[in-house]
Parts: sequence; structure tokens; C-alpha cells
Amino acid sequence: MTQSIPHGGTLIHLFHPDLDISHLHKEIELDQTALSDLELIGTGAYSPLIGFLTKEDYDSVVSRLRLADGTVWSLPITLPVTEEKAASLNEEETVLLVHNGLPYGVMTIKEIYRPDQQHEAQQVYRTTDLAHPGVKKLLERGSVYIGGPITLIRRIERKQFSEFYFDPAETRAIFKEKGWERIVGFQTRNPVHRAHEYIQKTALEIVDGLLLNPLVGETKADDIPADVRMESYQVLLKDYYPQDRVKLAVFPAAMRYAGPREAVFHAIVRKNYGCTHFIVGRDHAGVGNYYGTYDAQKIFSQFSADEIGITLLFFEHSFYCQKCESMASAKTCPHDKEHHVILSGTKVREMLRAGEVPPSTFSRKEVIEVLIRGLREKETVS
Ligand code: ADX
Repeated sequence: MTQSIPHGGTLIHLFHPDLDISHLHKEIELDQTALSDLELIGTGAYSPLIGFLTKEDYDSVVSRLRLADGTVWSLPITLPVTEEKAASLNEEETVLLVHNGLPYGVMTIKEIYRPDQQHEAQQVYRTTDLAHPGVKKLLERGSVYIGGPITLIRRIERKQFSEFYFDPAETRAIFKEKGWERIVGFQTRNPVHRAHEYIQKTALEIVDGLLLNPLVGETKADDIPADVRMESYQVLLKDYYPQDRVKLAVFPAAMRYAGPREAVFHAIVRKNYGCTHFIVGRDHAGVGNYYGTYDAQKIFSQFSADEIGITLLFFEHSFYCQKCESMASAKTCPHDKEHHVILSGTKVREMLRAGEVPPSTFSRKEVIEVLIRGLREKETVS
């Protein structure tokens, strides 16, 4: 049976919990994004990366979406620190990577370098506007980057939905056990509404299994929290999906909102998890109006199929059409816009927070019930 080949050829595994760290004292404190990146490098989700980018790879990723050796890689996975912190670090020394007082990894510093972050923002996010959440985050993190190989020594404690965390080696084993050869990966940071369900099920018609792989790392404050979303996925899967053809597993990375570049990253990482196909729909990983509706599909035309190594399934903007009485897109529906049920994510979030129920042609009632209750509980607590 064939399985998708990890990006770069080999699934990286850098988790060594027994590593002797007793002689190491210098520390770099990781923020949430760096902590999740460390773990995802260590488990092989980011294969072929073996550490935080050094300058040559960083420059190459920023300018041409490739590592220095030519392998496609679209997002700079960097470890930023402040100038003050950088002054205390030296190249060739090995340091502990800590978070809230606990060591999670070890890094041998190969390079300490000062990036041009305005250039990075423009290249990666296509804007330097601070209103863009990815740009804001980039400029808030430190201005000096520390590059070098890592070892992961501790796994992040899973306080919520721990049964949905799987490393790439595990998802690959699960697919094998299920006998799935063709697996479509679906990235989401939203509840699964009817349009998402439609494109997932359309894809399921031509593959063996679906990896529903919601991102649960850091997201912007007004996105629906991951725990509420996770509950909504479970109620939906229970009643509307064939149990033996879907696997729900979380993707614990931070959201960058880098649109097209993040779509490439999302596809490559799902290949590492063992997917053979990946869905890219409308404005994938976009935010506001920074990207064109199909920019995240167009970007793939600059790579050969072999270089990407995962089959992309591109979907048009889909919606419920009241005349067709079904889900549709401009490719399948001849009717005017007035018959289409289209609500923006912002509008839906506003409705949910006000306890209003969007039409069932937009989202299933079971999903909406979970979202309204979940958001209400959060607001009472905070
Ligand atoms: S994302 O930031 O994770 O991309 P979201 O969860 O909304 O956001 O989207 C998940 C996937 O579904 C993406 O590939 C996106 O392009 C696609 N998608 C979302 N809504 C639609 C829609 N109405 N029509 C077609 N594709 C969609």
C-alpha cells in the first residue's frame, strides 16, 4: 500500500525526552507560537525542518518560498528574541528552550541575525499594515532571530481534547490501519458550516477518507475559541458523516493569516501527516481584504506537482442556492446572487454572540446550538 512521502523525503523525529540537560543553564523563553513550532518541528509535522531557520534558509524562504536547498517552504519558522536577550547569547552554544519555567527543548545556536521585518511582512503577508494580525504579531515578537537545530525534550500538556492529538507518525499509522490510500486533509479555524461540509463531502466522493484537521493553536481574539469549535465538530460528525470515513485530529499550530503562503504551508504539513489530497477553497487562511478570493489557489502554479507532492483540490466559493435547493457554486448554479445564502464570517460571529440563529441553509442547527451555548458560557466566565 502506498503512503504519501513526507516533504523532503523523510519524516523528522527529534523527540528525545531522556536527553541529559543537567549541564545546560542558559535559557531562551518561548512564546506560544515558538512553543508550538518547536513541538511541530520535533514531531515531524514540519519535515524537513530540523530547527528554527538560519539566515540562508530564512532569506530564501522569504524571497522565493524555498529553503536554501530548493525544497518548497513558504513560511519563515523563526525564533525571535529581543536585542537585550540576543546580547547574552553566543553562536555555537547550546541552550534550553523554556516556557513558563519548564524546559521543552534544546537548541544549538548556529546563527544570531537581524532580519528586515518590514521586508518579511511585505513578502510573507503582502502588506506591512499593522491592522493585519499576522503582521502585528511579527512586529511584536523580537527583532533578532536565533537559528539552529533543536531537540524536543518535553511534550506540551494537553488540557483539552487530548484524545484528538496525533503526531504525523500516528496519523499515518491510523490511515494504514483503516486501509485508506487516498486521504484528503481539511484545514479550518472556523466551525464547519454548510459550505465547508459541502466541499469536504464532494472531496470524499473521490478519496477514501477525510482528515478533519482544525487548527487549535493561537488564533486572533475574535475567532471562535478552539474548545467551542471542537464540540461543534463532534456533534456534526456524529450525525452527518460516515464514522468510518472521517478522522478528527487537531493541528496544534498558530494561525498566521498569511493567506496564499499559509495555504502552501498548510498543504505541505498535511502531507507530512499522511494526506494525499488537500482542500483549498475560497480565501484560504485569509483575513480582511488582504488577499484575492483565489490567491491561495493561484500561488500553487509556481510549483511543479512533484515539488508539492500532495494533490490540491481547489473549490470555488460555495453557498446554498434557494432556486437550486442545494449547495452550489458559480460552476454549478445558473441563478442570480439574490438566491444565494452568503454570510460573512464576521456577520455570523456577530449573530452568534447576539444569540441569533443563522439560517439552517448556512449552518446546521446542532452546530449553531453548540456555538451559541459555548460563546455564552465564555462570556459569563470572563
Ligand atoms: S481558514 O483560515 O482555516 O482557511 P476556514 O476555516 O473558513 O478558514 O476555511 C477552511 C477551508 O474552507 C479553506 O480551504 C477555505 O478556503 C474553505 N472555505 C471556507 N468557506 C468556503 C466557502 N464558502 N466556499 C468554498 N470554500 C470555503
